[in-house]
Amino acid sequence: MAKLTAVVVALAAGVVSAYDNGLGATPPMGWNTWCTDDLCGVLDRCTEAEVKSIADAMASNGMQDLGYDYILLDDCWAAQERDADGRLAGNAKQFPSGMKAMADYVHSLGFKFGLYTCVGTYTCKQHRPGSYGHFDIDAQTFADWGIDFVKADYCYHPDNETAVDQYTALSQALNATGRHMLFSTCEWGEEEVWSWGGDVAQMFRVQADHLPFWRFPQDAAGQGFGQGTKEIIEWMAHLQPSQWTAPYSWMDPDFLMTLFLENETIGDYTPMTFIESRTEFSFWSLWSSPLILATDPRDMSEAKKSIILNKEVIDIDQDPLFRGGDRIYNSETGAQIWSKPLANGDIAVILYNSGNVATLPIKVTWEMLGWDKTASVTLRDLWAHEEVSANLPGGFAAKIGPRDVRMLRLSQSA
Ligand code: GLA
Repeated sequence: MAKLTAVVVALAAGVVSAYDNGLGATPPMGWNTWCTDDLCGVLDRCTEAEVKSIADAMASNGMQDLGYDYILLDDCWAAQERDADGRLAGNAKQFPSGMKAMADYVHSLGFKFGLYTCVGTYTCKQHRPGSYGHFDIDAQTFADWGIDFVKADYCYHPDNETAVDQYTALSQALNATGRHMLFSTCEWGEEEVWSWGGDVAQMFRVQADHLPFWRFPQDAAGQGFGQGTKEIIEWMAHLQPSQWTAPYSWMDPDFLMTLFLENETIGDYTPMTFIESRTEFSFWSLWSSPLILATDPRDMSEAKKSIILNKEVIDIDQDPLFRGGDRIYNSETGAQIWSKPLANGDIAVILYNSGNVATLPIKVTWEMLGWDKTASVTLRDLWAHEEVSANLPGGFAAKIGPRDVRMLRLSQSA
């Protein structure tokens, strides 16, 4: 009850409580080994050689300059057993030089380095050791290795303890080391993490795993409407990102799957196309969510670069007002409008067609954005990288293809 009261008071005051240990003032950006379900050790690129080559690529392909500064290992980096002193160890075949050396290499290129663990007894894949009962020693091991970011999963957690208790305890253990580590919870939204995640961690997963598809009926643990991009967009509309987003408190809808495998099929499914990937990136940015890629950033196609390296859209993600954008219009036809106020008084707007077949006309008016209908407004198209003209009195209309967006930055002129 005390927690609920605190949340209500915080909301009434327009404040989101947030956990500040010095890291996570802006939405984290980077790359993570995890790619998709059931490909652990096959497609997760979790070896010393692969991680080095990915870090090298990110240092030279423009990503680091744009702020992608976390290199993160997900599940599958650890040995099957703890060492003789009860400490976690890296898998010696995958990381022959050890985890400290891996961290040193990543740091030498100017990146930060993160590892995955689990608050349960095992990690989610292949029964690697989880941190349950070992929070202090694991936190100290991470600190000793020079880790900057810890993600904690929720598999095999004890049924008689709550997520908030487990994550609070691990958060305290990390802090007690004296090393600042960004803490990322991953309890899949099961215990409504949006209402407490920002108190113990700087980012919190709000739903089941995102898979690299547009639609995917839910198959994994956690809340949400499904594991595809479209379903995550609907789930975020339901949660209303503006309520829970603040510096040191980022809603994590999971990794970006941008042009995952560049259109090869996976079983019966085709991974997200260019348009679907562009839509995904637009929304994650509108929500001020972490931009953490699960896709391979090496040898990127021009199409993939045009998404991942789009500074104008990244600027929306990192905008210093740090607001999560919300849906402001939703039609039965599938036409939607989303908006996010920006620090300089501009507003970012997404015109989104959530349907699969028909092209839809979508119209935003200045009044929908809280501006006067006579306002003089300039518009910039953040994917076309050009100015567009207000084509209606008091508004703008465009035809949007299925699953596509028009992402705009609107400024009022004096
Ligand atoms: C869970 C998490 C994923 C990933 C895998 C690793 O499914 O939700 O993000 O970390 O475990 O096993």
